[in-house]
Amino acid sequence: MNIKFTSEINKDYDLTIIGIYKKNKFSNIANKTDKKLNGIISKSIKNSTFNGEIGDLVHIHSEKLLIVGLGEEKDLTEINLQKIGGKIGLILQKEKVKNSFIFLDNFSDENNFKIIYGLILKTYTFTKYKTENTDDKTNQSIFVYSQNPQKSENDFLKTKAIIDGITTTRNLANEPSNVLTTTEFVKEVKNLSKLGIKIEIIDEKQLKKMGANLILSVAKGSEYPPYIVSMSYTGNKKSKNTIGIIGKGLCFDSGGISIKPSKGMDEMKSDMTGAATVVGIMESLAKRKAKVNVVGVIGLAENMPDGNSYKPGDVIKSLSGKTVEVLNTDAEGRLVLGDCITYTIKNFKPNLIIDFATLTGAIIIALGEEITGLFSNNKELAKKLITSGLKTGEELWQMPMGTKFKNMIKSNIADMNNLGKPERTASSITAAEFLENFVENDTPWAHLDIAGTAWTSSGNDISPKGLTGVGVNLINEFISNYYEEK
Ligand code: BES
Ligand code: MN
Ligand code: ZN
Repeated sequence: MNIKFTSEINKDYDLTIIGIYKKNKFSNIANKTDKKLNGIISKSIKNSTFNGEIGDLVHIHSEKLLIVGLGEEKDLTEINLQKIGGKIGLILQKEKVKNSFIFLDNFSDENNFKIIYGLILKTYTFTKYKTENTDDKTNQSIFVYSQNPQKSENDFLKTKAIIDGITTTRNLANEPSNVLTTTEFVKEVKNLSKLGIKIEIIDEKQLKKMGANLILSVAKGSEYPPYIVSMSYTGNKKSKNTIGIIGKGLCFDSGGISIKPSKGMDEMKSDMTGAATVVGIMESLAKRKAKVNVVGVIGLAENMPDGNSYKPGDVIKSLSGKTVEVLNTDAEGRLVLGDCITYTIKNFKPNLIIDFATLTGAIIIALGEEITGLFSNNKELAKKLITSGLKTGEELWQMPMGTKFKNMIKSNIADMNNLGKPERTASSITAAEFLENFVENDTPWAHLDIAGTAWTSSGNDISPKGLTGVGVNLINEFISNYYEEK
């Protein structure tokens, strides 16, 4: 879908999209159009259940008009604007409208951008592997009303950067594991260097030399080697501050020797969504030229059963020097992340770190698909993230941590175990407790368990069924609001 800004109202569009507020309060443009058309809009609405609520739609085919409910004028929040965009997008997608014109009301650019954000993301498709592509969007143009099209086009690039980042995250997470192996993932990351991001690749040989035995152990049963990859974006050369964003990148998680049941195992091709989120974040920051320094670090590996796999009962010395008793090889994400956290703190000394991981099935049970589990050692950081989520619609809920849970990952033989005892009890929290053992120098840290929110089974406001790309907009909001020099 091509987005264009225009001040031309009277061109012959295939569909003109106009807004009406709650209780059928007409926008200026709705009023004008209604008069011009001798009251067709008023009549059509009267004969329908339309009441101006978000989601209400009336399609007047004879006039090539789509009337869209905007809700209450005072409730035009970012989330509601995204939602309205999503509703419009579905119609344009279904009817394959070639040239549409959006003039909901005399909206600011900012409001329009949020509508386009929802529209583009809600109509996302992944058709790469369909040999008959019936869903070509390239010939669809969307014209958006603007008094100053040139300026709008320019300013839209920042929103576009975030949309692009989210699209990259979804595309990567959608790839099957026979295509997107660890090595192929590294190649994808290298694309970011075109945007001025510095990529460093730590391969298996270097991981061995360093002693990153947690990630090495997870990958032992796989044909594909593990990697730690860092992506440094320096948007503020004057500042010494750096934010670290870490991602779990399991290109496939079979569970290993503690193998998973076959039902739903295919979904584990997306167990690299944390890493894909980091890539999407880095792309969006670089594309919108954010004035901030961020390093993204991802741990790539595949977890497979094999004669050479790591096994329950194994004791492993991590990159940090701390030892881990493996009680379940399916609790592999925390092992990969543990070494990544140590690596990031040692090499980049970030002022704060945030990790993204599809870490536990239990967080889906606890919070579902619409709320991400947040774990943190720092109140201020947690609060900033929660606030950012309320703004973008990527809601977070902070989970408890503390001594009572720390005791659950004690081991008889090593410094900690990777499962938590009793098994399955508070298992999202014990996973977070495990990670905290690697957060050194009191670095403010937040862990986002996106196992539930990375995926939507029936679609949400801004995403069709499938991968959501959650976290990219959240971190952009978080950084631009609290850390970016303006
Ligand atoms: N990748 C899974 C978590 C997961 C499950 C993500 C379902 C998305 C959907 C993770 O590696 C895992 O297997 N976790 C186990 C941990 C357990 C063995 C302590 C889990 O949650 O069952
Ligand atoms: Mn697992
Ligand atoms: Zn996993």
